[in-house]
Amino acid sequence: MTTRERVESLRAQLDEANYRYYVLDAPTISDARYDQLMRELRDLEEAHPDLQSDLSPTRRVGAAPSQRFAPVEHATPMLSLANAFSSEELRAFDERVRKLLGESAVRYICELKIDGLAVAVRYRDGAFVRGATRGDGRVGEEVTENLRVIPGVPLRLREAIRGDFEARGEVYLRRSDFDALNLRREREGAPRFANPRNAASGGLRQLDPAQTRERRLSFFAYTLVEPPPEIATQHAALERLRELGFPVNPNVRAVASIDEAVAFCDEWERRRDELDYEIDGVAIKVDRFDFQERLGTVARDPRWAIAYKFKAREATTKLEDITVSVGRTGTLNPNAVLAPVEIGGITIRNATLHNEAYIASNDIRIGDTVIVVRAGDVIPRVVGPIRELRTGKERIFHMPTHCPVCGADVDRPDGEAMARCTNASCPAQLVERLRHFASRGAMDIEGLGDVLAEQLVSGGLVKEFADLYALDAPRLAALDRLGAKSAGNLVAAIAASKERGLTRLLVGLGIRYVGEQTAAILARDFRSMAALAEADESALQRSEGIGPEVAASVRLFFAQARNRAALEALAAAGVAMEERGVAPVADSAIKGKRFVLTGTLATMTREEAKGALERLGARTSESVSAKTDYVVAGSEAGSKLQRARDLDVPVLDEDAFCRMLSETRSPTHR
Ligand code: IVH
Repeated sequence: MTTRERVESLRAQLDEANYRYYVLDAPTISDARYDQLMRELRDLEEAHPDLQSDLSPTRRVGAAPSQRFAPVEHATPMLSLANAFSSEELRAFDERVRKLLGESAVRYICELKIDGLAVAVRYRDGAFVRGATRGDGRVGEEVTENLRVIPGVPLRLREAIRGDFEARGEVYLRRSDFDALNLRREREGAPRFANPRNAASGGLRQLDPAQTRERRLSFFAYTLVEPPPEIATQHAALERLRELGFPVNPNVRAVASIDEAVAFCDEWERRRDELDYEIDGVAIKVDRFDFQERLGTVARDPRWAIAYKFKAREATTKLEDITVSVGRTGTLNPNAVLAPVEIGGITIRNATLHNEAYIASNDIRIGDTVIVVRAGDVIPRVVGPIRELRTGKERIFHMPTHCPVCGADVDRPDGEAMARCTNASCPAQLVERLRHFASRGAMDIEGLGDVLAEQLVSGGLVKEFADLYALDAPRLAALDRLGAKSAGNLVAAIAASKERGLTRLLVGLGIRYVGEQTAAILARDFRSMAALAEADESALQRSEGIGPEVAASVRLFFAQARNRAALEALAAAGVAMEERGVAPVADSAIKGKRFVLTGTLATMTREEAKGALERLGARTSESVSAKTDYVVAGSEAGSKLQRARDLDVPVLDEDAFCRMLSETRSPTHR
């Protein structure tokens, strides 16, 4: 491709993206990708002046407004900001500014860059008369009636300024209002919005202002147009806007050097999740207006300001397929297979789709172009489709009715989000159940870890727990990577586990809600598996700390013919079904530590996570405090995650949590 062709292709791509973004409210490419294309085009035009053109997207801010609203010409053009992606670029900006001004130091004002859409609001003799979107920067759309319903936009200024007055700022949607809006939409069966900006932008451009009002939009002002001479700086202008009754973002800082500006950027990149609204960077502006005027504007950007952009968290890409894996507890997990896309420096190929209801309520279809979010340390997830890009070939996803691993029926109990494989011996579950059975807090079979459990199941050597006790050294030695000596040791370890006693066996069975503490109490009170199997719920509830949930779970376990048969086979293999001495709760590295679980975990239910922690002697609680040791954040973690960050409590994502569980070994009790 020649340079000319590349330039033309970039312009076409950017024009199309602009049109979709500004006119249709339906972005097709991520901001990061847009910035990248724009940057490439600008570099090429700079290097090849003969290729420059007045029609290039580098010369304007947006695309033409849609015809639904009356056009409004902005007396002063609504500019946008050039972007910087690193501290080096900020320093280069500062150098340029100081050089042009001939100053050794320049004061800047740092403001949060609110992720919404820019509007201009005009007043005559202090009364709100007209509001407009930015449009292409020169001509916008008149949205006066829609702006009127936004509580933050003053209808009367607190001082009746004579003549014309104009302010500019950002219309945005708070996260809390966004969540509430999506909740309402879910109840009404309407698809959720992918992000607050899309919801705000669509909301402001409703033809019916009542619809706009329902979105509960917010407003922050940041520009005072044509300031009077006594207001000589941006910080004075913000102060004045506040006096006049505009909401002004409080998180601004006037700084004496670019180093301080860089520090402000770093601080807010870290703290962005503390806010109830989304920011995508920091706007850094030369504070003095006389300096701003001297610096002027080139093409579409003022030379006196720059936007420091945070690392991207979102991207759009193609959802190529939805696969279903069976989690270690039998849950069926839908996973997105994505066309590889980079978000904040990491290539994403897969993302979670949580469960069938999530896919349905977000109207996500195979073949859709989707928005993918990767926020902080949380696993990437698909938040929604871009419906405007549908071709009609997209396919609706249905959860399989049979387990993709073993073929058994799939069940989704009422009120539960996750579909589950109903086969307790499903190989997908069996590996994990076996590993758990053999773990130190349970039957303590040294040498039987993840790898071996996997081999035993996939090799067909173990279909249920009792099969372990029929293994012999020659058969084990035939397994990959297991020598004769290890095989012999393993057989001995398996044999030794027969005498662990009732508590350990109960733990090993993995009955829901029965961790080490509960198992010890049941073993103490009932003494034998036979007695426990006969106990009804009220008998069970007479034991210390056993509530209706645990009792029901224990009953359910013994009510299954399959489980009773598995126990009989274990007894026949010589496994002790009575208590052997006292089995104290294991000591483990996380014993006594306090955990708070928040959000949805993909591989286990919250109860299962709790159970796993309790088996290791850890405690769980509902709210985050300074005493919390760890917060485990699944997807869609909300205020608890925020609070953890506020209090500097370590946060574990699901991977880290699973690693911690599997690495935490309790010392042996013999
Ligand atoms: S200043 C010439 N300040 O970011 C001044 N913009 O590309 C232009 N934005 O169009 C705007 N927060 O939509 C400015 N504190 C802030 C901002 C802000 C968000 C948006 C605005 C603008 C874009 C800049």
